[in-house]
Amino acid sequence: MKHIFKKGTDLTNTTLLLLHGTGGTEQDLLPLAAQVDPQANVLSVRGNIDENGMFRYFKRLRPGVFDEADLKLRTEELKHFLSDAANEYGFDRNKIIAIGYSNGANIAGSLLFHDSNVLKGAILHHPMVPLRGLELPDLSGTPIFIGAGTNDPICASEESEELEHLLSNAGADVTLHWENHGHQLTGTEINVAKEWYKANKNRLYQ
Ligand code: MLT
Repeated sequence: MKHIFKKGTDLTNTTLLLLHGTGGTEQDLLPLAAQVDPQANVLSVRGNIDENGMFRYFKRLRPGVFDEADLKLRTEELKHFLSDAANEYGFDRNKIIAIGYSNGANIAGSLLFHDSNVLKGAILHHPMVPLRGLELPDLSGTPIFIGAGTNDPICASEESEELEHLLSNAGADVTLHWENHGHQLTGTEINVAKEWYKANKNRLYQ
């Protein structure tokens, strides 16, 4: 997968996995990673799907309706890519924390829904429920931040709450933060996520 890797102060430290929104690239979230943890390694990955010139991580049938077979396939593909990248660059495969926005948050959610060992934690900005009817793995103690909008036209507030319940029921330690905005990623949300990361750093770094 097309990507950027930036070594942090220590390769054995956390690696932030950056996953952009539809129409974005691997460049988009780099400033955000620098704000959240300037010392971490950064692996920023471009989605492999080209939807009329817009990059995404998996196909959709129409806005808001996912191609579930493709989502499962792309989730596996990303998981394998993470192992390959860890081998190539020498970072710790067990210390990956995802930061995803919108479509990127959705594939991060799908990684969490499929496997308890891929992500150590996650910051999900405006995610949806990636798949329904799955039995989630045991996510005990996995710290997850969800940033949601009370007026998000792409993700209704009930869906953000549904995602929180699903992840919490699987044992994850979920913080749901509301912004009185829509789908956009605001400076306030980024700051709250940054504070959450700082407060959870001990657990995220174990
Ligand atoms: C998706 O397709 O993942 C969601 O609708 C969010 C987006 O617009 O990318």
